[in-house]
Amino acid sequence: MYKLRADTPPEWATHVVDNLNEFLPDHAAAERKASANAMHMVVRYSDKLDMVDAMIEVAREELEHYHQVFHLMRERGVALQPDEPDPYVNALLTHSRQTGGDRFLDRLLLGSIIEYRGCERFAMIGRELTERSDDPALGEFYRDLAASEAKHRGDFYELALQYFPQDDAESRLDEFLDVEAEVVEELPIRAALH
Ligand SMILES: [Fe+2]
Ligand SMILES: [Fe+2]
Repeated sequence: MYKLRADTPPEWATHVVDNLNEFLPDHAAAERKASANAMHMVVRYSDKLDMVDAMIEVAREELEHYHQVFHLMRERGVALQPDEPDPYVNALLTHSRQTGGDRFLDRLLLGSIIEYRGCERFAMIGRELTERSDDPALGEFYRDLAASEAKHRGDFYELALQYFPQDDAESRLDEFLDVEAEVVEELPIRAALH
């Protein structure tokens, strides 16, 4: 498996856990958008049956994450919020080519990278919560999410390798990893997934 090229600063996880109630609506929205994106792939590339099968599963798992975060918000008395643009995802999508097979490859690779970053960040929140040890169950919840996003990272990447020549997928991934590192390094520290 490939590696991301920039680490999220540790201050981000500290800030998120300090402001968890502010973070949760954005987290919930990110899960819902991930589910919707997977179903968008199903509709757009409906002749790619292995991808359809995998994306329906991803959509279901992301919707389950959304439901879990919603329950957490409800317990804590935190309201759902109107959607706000995600600066990280939107910046990455500006680099996606827009037609045919190029677009399909780019969406699979960007999907994998976005899942990878989610995995890294949920794991950081899990560690921060566990170190503070005021809510071990919540720390475990975020560690479980990280494991699920790690699986999705692999799902998207394996589909890219299944549908495209390895050299094409790897060279495009190499370009995206540089772009992603630059985008992440520009992100402000705030109580949001990105
Ligand atoms: Fe998720
Ligand atoms: Fe995911």
